Amino acid sequence: MKPVTIAIIGAGDRGLYAYAPYTLSHGDEGKVVAVAEPREGRRAKAKAMFGIPDKNIFADWRALARKPRLADAVIIATQDRDHKAPAVALAKKGYHILLEKPMASTAADCKAIVKAVKAAGVIFAVGHVMRYSPYFSRLKSFLDSGVIGEIVSIEHLEPVGYWHQAHSFVRGNWRNSKETSFMLLAKSCHDIDILRYLTGRPCVAVSSFGSLKHFRKEEKPAGAGMRCVACGYEPKCPFSAKKIYLTGKTEWPVSTLTDDLTPEGIAAAVETGPYGRCVYECDNDVVDHQVVNLLYEGGVTASFTMCAFTVTTGRQTRIMGTRGEIVGDREKFTHLDFLTDKSTVYNPAQEAGFSGHGGGDEGLIRSFLAAVRDGDATRIASGPDVSLETHLTVFAAEKARLKGTVEKIRLS
Ligand SMILES: NC(=O)c1ccc[n+]([C@@H]2O[C@H](COP(=O)([O-])OP(=O)(O)OC[C@H]3O[C@@H](n4cnc5c(N)ncnc54)[C@H](O)[C@@H]3O)[C@@H](O)[C@H]2O)c1
Repeated sequence: MKPVTIAIIGAGDRGLYAYAPYTLSHGDEGKVVAVAEPREGRRAKAKAMFGIPDKNIFADWRALARKPRLADAVIIATQDRDHKAPAVALAKKGYHILLEKPMASTAADCKAIVKAVKAAGVIFAVGHVMRYSPYFSRLKSFLDSGVIGEIVSIEHLEPVGYWHQAHSFVRGNWRNSKETSFMLLAKSCHDIDILRYLTGRPCVAVSSFGSLKHFRKEEKPAGAGMRCVACGYEPKCPFSAKKIYLTGKTEWPVSTLTDDLTPEGIAAAVETGPYGRCVYECDNDVVDHQVVNLLYEGGVTASFTMCAFTVTTGRQTRIMGTRGEIVGDREKFTHLDFLTDKSTVYNPAQEAGFSGHGGGDEGLIRSFLAAVRDGDATRIASGPDVSLETHLTVFAAEKARLKGTVEKIRLS
């Protein structure tokens, strides 16, 4: 079998570690042959990891795009606001595309991407990895078999986790909606997408409430400093950077802080870098709690909550059907049958063995490579039309939150 050749666009955390490593253990399915990345250290890392020849190493995706097509496919893992330009340009060059979520940070950009990939006729997948995880795949086929009758309503919780919120959405990359995506787009586009997947119906209307309640200057405790290394309140602060990062570990989230993962390098990043700032003194504006109510075709309803003030656990989902109920936690789910009053526990994640995003990262790259190899877009569970639909639902929900309205979803 000839492997599908891949160029990585943006060798950051996701570009290097989410999907591409799959090819190292499945060389017959895929091979990384090129990289475009401005940071020299990351280019070197990509070269070392995948044995990329020098002629295929670029400091910018535009330089790669100027060359004749040098791979079958690209993994686009640049930051949210830098998705549209490479996606449109590389689709025009005939590259099949695995694009990280969110597709883009505006509805217009999402539409432009979908138009370009459809015009080019390339395989297109969005990084909605939960659709490919053993847990959600099994849950979906369970629902489709009709075991709980017709789905009437779903209650879904994304417990972001107090330290994850502090890391990514207060101190980190997705803290400020003026520079990147708003919270529902950055974090919860996965959830709005998975609700569409589980209901099997398009969403027709949304309302939403939420705000930045806690991570603000006004909430700063007396005696707290500007940085955790010089703060009288630090021992009592659950969001302390010392507590989160100076643990002796080097994997994510610590790996985001610096390329120098020695104890000294990490300590220096906490002392002087953005991740050592007081959580009450950052330039963050994204919400720390939000609820969305969703109405689907046929009158099915769902309620969604994202909240920072939780421990980090799997998403919690309760699916209520006419003949039974399912309660799940992204690892296992329990089916309660109304006829027999019997309850049965299923553990698809454990059966399959865990990897990134409950096996979703691996499931997505495997499906994407197979789709490209066989020219079979049906292997993609997160293709252009459904991804556009769920992103438009996210934009409508945010508009509803900001304006206090009920928004209808308009697909055109
Ligand atoms: N699917 C998921 O569950 C999931 C999880 C986390 C992040 N993401 C998404 O993945 C994307 C990447 O996130 P990340 O955490 O890896 O970010 P990152 O900042 O670590 O990586 C982005 C990379 O793009 C590079 N880049 C910038 N300009 C470039 C250019 N002109 N050409 C080529 N590369 C360029 C940067 O140098 C950086 O290395 C984001 O859109 C993010 O929202 C998805």
